[in-house]
Amino acid sequence: MKLLMAANWKMYKNQESARATLVELATRIAPLPQDREVAVFAPFTLLPACAAAVQGSPIRLGGQNCYPESEGAFTGEISPGMLQDAGCTLVLTGHSERRAILGESDEFVGQKTAFALQLGLDVVLCIGETLAQREAGKLEEVLARQLAAGLADVPASVPPQRISIAYEPVWAIGTGKVAGPVEIVAAHTAVRHMLHNNFKENASQVRIVYGGSVKPDNAKEIIALDNVNGVLVGGASLQAESFSRIALA
Ligand code: 13P
Repeated sequence: MKLLMAANWKMYKNQESARATLVELATRIAPLPQDREVAVFAPFTLLPACAAAVQGSPIRLGGQNCYPESEGAFTGEISPGMLQDAGCTLVLTGHSERRAILGESDEFVGQKTAFALQLGLDVVLCIGETLAQREAGKLEEVLARQLAAGLADVPASVPPQRISIAYEPVWAIGTGKVAGPVEIVAAHTAVRHMLHNNFKENASQVRIVYGGSVKPDNAKEIIALDNVNGVLVGGASLQAESFSRIALA
């Protein structure tokens, strides 16, 4: 299984800075070690420019969200097919910012996940607890609920390699508070066990990546942990210099 070293650009950048960042990133990460993949989740309007910039490089392009229909009267939404048309092979579902700010339910995240997979996009399904949930002892309950609903409609025929789970504790996102090694291993190991419900003996082939204040100086330690198969990076992914150091960590 290859590590997934992924950048989530959230609502940052314009076409010129996206292009420049990707061209520099492609140079900095070459040659990419065989044991990893690099992906960038860019804002919708930047995807065509990004697709042109990553041509001939190993960088995979992803959308940050999609709607679970092929087309129709869904103002403001975007379909998996539109993402593919713009050069994407991946999509994020269930990011905590969409759950918290846009009010996405566990079930809606599940619909998107299943539909995107069915249409041929690989999916990174994000799950994670708030600080209040953690302090109330509800870590495993929250992760189990988000994971079960997120994968509920995924057909058994989908190869497990096409799905990654991003464990992103909400309290570690954009705060500079990275989860400690003990906390990361405990959560990832719990998720690995939960994956047996859906994938049985293939559960070990689903990547579980960590997200939350990953930086060049902590990435190496994080990807060395048990059951950590990569990282999903926000702030430190915006510059090619820092994200390339993470991608090559
Ligand atoms: P930060 O790396 O900025 O904490 O963001 C993490 C994240 O939300 C990635 O999806």
